[in-house]
Amino acid sequence: MRSFLFVPGDSERKLAKGAAAGADALVLDLEDSVPADRIEIARAMVREYLQAHRDRESTRLWVRINPLSTEKALPDLAAIVCGAPDGILLPKVTGPADLTLLDSYLTALEVREGVERGSIKILLVATETAPAVFNLGRFGGLTARLWGMTWGAEDLSAALGASTNRDESGELEFTYRLARSMCLLGAVAAEVEPIDTVFTNFKDVDGLIRESQAARRAGFTGKIAIHPDQVEPINQSFTPTAEEIEYARRVVEAFASGAGTVGLDGKMLDMPHLKQARRLLASLRK
Ligand code: COA
Ligand code: MG
Repeated sequence: MRSFLFVPGDSERKLAKGAAAGADALVLDLEDSVPADRIEIARAMVREYLQAHRDRESTRLWVRINPLSTEKALPDLAAIVCGAPDGILLPKVTGPADLTLLDSYLTALEVREGVERGSIKILLVATETAPAVFNLGRFGGLTARLWGMTWGAEDLSAALGASTNRDESGELEFTYRLARSMCLLGAVAAEVEPIDTVFTNFKDVDGLIRESQAARRAGFTGKIAIHPDQVEPINQSFTPTAEEIEYARRVVEAFASGAGTVGLDGKMLDMPHLKQARRLLASLRK
């Protein structure tokens, strides 16, 4: 799962376009991209879309619901679980109790709707509130539904009362880079996928590719898109290149003798390199 494309849940036009974008998943949005007075319409449209798109082989269908702290969250879920979404993107998480609560809601609704129990996965937006950042290491082992964790800098800066999340050079300020790294570490600690956040300047493809490649080097396994044009660059950035695959094969071969340390191309390799190479090759089989 390299790319998730956000699609506003109340936009007929964008829903119609989403499927062709080539994203590994769409995130049908019921939260911030939907105006308050259109939430009922959006719920109905998202439900219909899910019901009409049962073949999820090439594009999975996730739904972003409203935060559990709002009165919208439960009606969101009640409206869409019958469409058997592949997963729920949960925004503005504060801590592990949110995950446990969503897990219970989903179980109850799956049973009511005749949807396979446990089939709906969860991706947490785990850095949008200040308490969440302190809880990033505490999401593991609670539910097998937890599929991944992602982060965001926009809502966190609003939560902090910051006037901007950028420093003078245009880079993300330390607080947000900290949240990013903690999210990455938290996801790996919980043994789930770390997914990188949106790149909002959708006309800047070079910037998107740079950011995507940096995220992949850091360990993120996918990234969220907001515009169809962002999907292909993201997919490319998170797909191992032919050279990387070839090199990984050579690393695995170099260790075939059972030695703990080997030389390859004049460089010393030990267990971390073997692990990395095996992980890359394993990702090709997924
Ligand atoms: N999903 C599906 N289709 C999309 C899309 C998306 N996220 N974003 C744009 N498109 C479509 C547009 O409808 C347009 O097609 P059309 O001419 O047939 O209507 C085409 O792609 C080109 O769009 P463009 O004109 O370049 O962008 P825009 O000004 O229409 O939209 C945004 C810009 C940012 C408003 C739009 O990309 C968007 O809604 N993104 C998702 C926002 C979101 O969900 N945010 C919440 C998470 S942060
Ligand atoms: Mg938001």
